Formats: sequence, C-alpha cells, structure tokens
Amino acid sequence: MRILSIESSCDETGAAVVEKIDDTVVVLSNTLASSSDMHAATGGIIPENAAREQVKSIIPVIIDALLKYKNIKTVSSNKDFTTASKIIKDEIDSIAVTYGPGLIGSLIIGVETVKTISFALQKPVIPVNHLLAHLYANYINRKTTDINFPFVGLIVSGGHTDLLYFKSHTDFKWLGGTRDDAAGEAIDKIGRMLDLPYPAGPEMEKRAKNAKESHLKFQSPMIGSKDYDFSFSGLKAEVMRFVKNNTLTEELKDQICYAVQSAIFKVLIKKTLESSAEYNCDTILLGGGVSASATLLESMKQESRIKNQELRIFSPEKQYATDNAAMIGAYALINGEEKNWKEFKSNPELYFA
Ligand code: KG4
Ligand code: ZN
Repeated sequence: MRILSIESSCDETGAAVVEKIDDTVVVLSNTLASSSDMHAATGGIIPENAAREQVKSIIPVIIDALLKYKNIKTVSSNKDFTTASKIIKDEIDSIAVTYGPGLIGSLIIGVETVKTISFALQKPVIPVNHLLAHLYANYINRKTTDINFPFVGLIVSGGHTDLLYFKSHTDFKWLGGTRDDAAGEAIDKIGRMLDLPYPAGPEMEKRAKNAKESHLKFQSPMIGSKDYDFSFSGLKAEVMRFVKNNTLTEELKDQICYAVQSAIFKVLIKKTLESSAEYNCDTILLGGGVSASATLLESMKQESRIKNQELRIFSPEKQYATDNAAMIGAYALINGEEKNWKEFKSNPELYFA
C-alpha cells in the first residue's frame, strides 16, 4: 500500500509519499514548508497568519512531494499539476491527512484539500490523529516488530504533553498530561524571555551544552505528585522573576537554559519511568518536537540505567520528531482506517477517544 500523506495542523505544511516495504515504513519523499520564520518575528504563532500560509503552500507542497517521489523535475505549474494528478491516479492507494488536534484554520486547509482530491480522483482518505502520529514516527525506518507491546508513549510537543499506556495499536489508555503549558510551549515562552530564536528548543539544547553544569536550579513542577500529570506554567513564572532580577550575560543565559531544560526533563523522565514500571512496560516511545532533543533521550536512558530498569527507549529520527507529513503516513500505514471523504471533518479539539 502506497500512501500520500498531508500535515497542516499548525505552521508547517507537509506532504509525503510512504510505503511499507519489508515490514518497515519507508519514506519515498517528504516535503515541508514552514511559516515559522514569520512567527519568529512575532515570537509565537498567530493562527490567522498560519492559516493564510497554509493556503499558499498546500498545493505546491503536495505537487513537490509527488514529483520528488518519481524523480521528475518541475516544468511549469500547469504541467506539474497534471503530472501530479496522474501520479495520484496511477500510483497512490489512499490519502492520509491530519484531522486534529490543531489550529482550526490550518487543519481545514489540509482536510478540505484532501477531500477534494479524494472526490476528484476517487481515492479513499485516512484521517489521522496528529498526536498519535508523533509516536508512530518511531516506526519510520524501523521494522514494525522492533517495537513491542505493551509500551508507554510520551508525547512532548509545542501544544501537548501526554503520557499513554498502549496494550495494542487500538487499546490504549491516557495516564496523564499537562494541566497548563505544554513542555515545548514553556521552552518557547522562556526562550522569548531570553531572546532566543523561535522555536527555542534547539537553541536551548545547544546553550545548555555550553553551560554543562550550573549552580542555578529551578523547580521541577509536580515532581512529587502521585499521578502522571505535569505543569509548567509555574516554572515559567519562576524564570521570569529570575530574569527580572538579574543582568543577562551570554554565560548566564546558557546557565538558565541548562537549569530550565533540566527542570523540565527531570519531571518528564521521572514520571515516564515510573509509569513504565507500574504498567510493566519495557518499551518507551518518545514523540513530538521536544523528542528531537538528543539530551532528553540520553538522559532518560541514563536514568533508567541508574534505576536498573531494562528498557528499550525509542525516539524518532530528528527530522520526523517535529511536525512532518511522513509521520502521518506512518500512522496510516500501521493503524489507519480508510474512509469516504464525507465521513469525517476537521476536529481541532480531537484528543484520545
Ligand atoms: O511537535 P512540534 O513540531 O509541533 C507541535 O505539534 O507542537 O513541536 C514543536 C516544539 C517547539 O516547542 C520546539 O521548541 C520544540 O518542539 N523543540 C525542542 C527541540 N526541537 C524542537 N525542544 C527541546 N529540544 C529540542 N532540540
Ligand atoms: Zn506536532
């Protein structure tokens, strides 16, 4: 089965062609247009602007992914459009699309575009939950059988922080999540206080490495609570007070990054490892933009060794950790359900049904 997949839930417009070959999700092409530079200027995403950029990018991105998949050079927009339609007709079995959660204006553009293609070219659609797809990014370039059930999944992105327990692809339970800001959101907002480029995660990781060790410490919110919930808005307030009362040098900024990253990762790691022990899981999947952090993966592995927990901890390849269309295709290939275009609509509030 070969799938064209589309992602448009926030400020990234993505299209990919994916196929399961030898029990492995293989990405045959993957295109991404981002309006993040525009949002960098405002220090965060303005939904209306993100949606407008989605409209501009969606068709060119889909065409680009299809031409790249066939190694065909672009000729002119009219010819490319015809070629792309023919590729879908002849070689694509289904079209997968993110239908939630996300920004309504952005989601609608991907979903309605896919519905139109489906209607015009008579192809089934596979609606995909963006959050689950973040975890399924782990199946890209890996044999399906490498990842064993049961596993615990930690989704850490700009919009979400959720911990889930999976008995199978279809039988899973939400264990807890953030009560306020998501981990990535806290990182980006603190990054703004420190004048870091948006999104701040990669720069924060780099600066934390410069600091290596820091005397500075911030609280890990809810680290002692007997549940799997998180909270990061208090940390944001604590850092804001610190920034107000101190003169920021580059060296101090590095130290703040180290202390913030440690405070966030400590609580994520503690609760993820505790849940894997409680639910007898020896496999953990990380997903979402924050899982692009090699520091998070390495620290979790190190902590599990200290605790003598024998675990297999996976995180997606960096390019598939942040928003992309290949992960939407990965979910569709492994656990997708084909629908008629009339049977679903965008759902910005979609969670874990
Ligand atoms: O999953 P994603 O691309 O978008 C959402 O669905 O929200 O996640 C974006 C988030 C941003 O908050 C960004 O700062 C964070 O992922 N991020 C990182 C790193 N790379 C991206 N956070 C920590 N360390 C990183 N290396
Ligand atoms: Zn995401």
